[in-house]
Amino acid sequence: MQKNKVLVIGGAGYIGSHVVRALLKNDFAVTVYDNLSTGQECNLFADAQFIRGDILDFQMLRQTMSEGYDAVVHLAAKKAVGESMDNPQKYALNNLNGSVNIFNAMIETGIKNVVFSSSAAVFGMPQYMPVDEQHPVCPINFYGYTKLKIEELMDWYSRLKDFHYIALRYFNAVGYAADGSIKGREKNPQNLLPIVMEVATGKRQKMQVFGNDYDTPDGTCVRDYIHVEDLASAHVAAIRQLLQKGDSHVINLGTNKGTSVLEIIEAVERVTGRKIAYEFAPRRAGDPAILVATNQKAQKVLNWQPDYVNIDEIIQTTWNLEVK
Ligand code: UFG
Repeated sequence: MQKNKVLVIGGAGYIGSHVVRALLKNDFAVTVYDNLSTGQECNLFADAQFIRGDILDFQMLRQTMSEGYDAVVHLAAKKAVGESMDNPQKYALNNLNGSVNIFNAMIETGIKNVVFSSSAAVFGMPQYMPVDEQHPVCPINFYGYTKLKIEELMDWYSRLKDFHYIALRYFNAVGYAADGSIKGREKNPQNLLPIVMEVATGKRQKMQVFGNDYDTPDGTCVRDYIHVEDLASAHVAAIRQLLQKGDSHVINLGTNKGTSVLEIIEAVERVTGRKIAYEFAPRRAGDPAILVATNQKAQKVLNWQPDYVNIDEIIQTTWNLEVK
């Protein structure tokens, strides 16, 4: 039987490389399209074709897509929340224009299906917990705004054209492939777990915990940490859903479970056997106290469930990279 062909745009990045790995394991023929601006060559797989290209290069996108694909996975984006507030032009150009280019090239070349990396950042300050797909969207940073606008663009295209999409709203992506096959660590990590890991390895002396006076059990912020391999398996399920049924959806990807900053630090101490030096610092602007997903829709539409539910096991997969 002929393999289904998938073009993974942004496939050399942290989440993209895990998606490529999962697709290859599930017998898809994969091509990665990435400009390697944040993606890394060490994240590429020999079994996947690689094209170095930029999403702002429409001709190259169209030429690549004219080879014919059953689906596109679009993960290419700028994703630093703080930077998006300082330099919205960069985010408008890369995230908005880049996405328009991808979707227009799909339509011109007759590719009907796309799985898009969206984010819990579209919700802004949540009004109730856990957050479902009906929760109002109201981003409070420019990064989240770009993700929401791209969702809306896909919705319009799906109504006007033979265009089918699944937007996956990631909550907090963490961990690495348990077999150690993906080695590319982010260069200037801004997220909690990579920062705690830098303290564990001695690369950083101590870290700051932003706020200890939130209305949460231990006063620190609670997030829904989802293992990147679980995110990846949801992309495989989303492509299958699109190929079989073709319905468009927006779907939250989380674990239904919240973990506080202090609980993350304690879990890292347990897993690594090292003491994590930290100090409390003022709240970080724009941080909701609690952000946890309900993944009932993902279970129903994608027949998907996260395999990783234990935070220590999730952290172990990140620690494996340091000790191997
Ligand atoms: N935190 C610290 N110290 C640090 C870094 C983070 O205390 O040095 C705290 C944050 O204040 C927050 C929690 O750890 O309470 C998690 O922070 P991250 O930066 O790891 O993640 P966020 O929840 O802020 O951001 C994530 C994604 C974004 C997305 C956002 C909204 O990384 O892409 O969720 O859904 F936009």
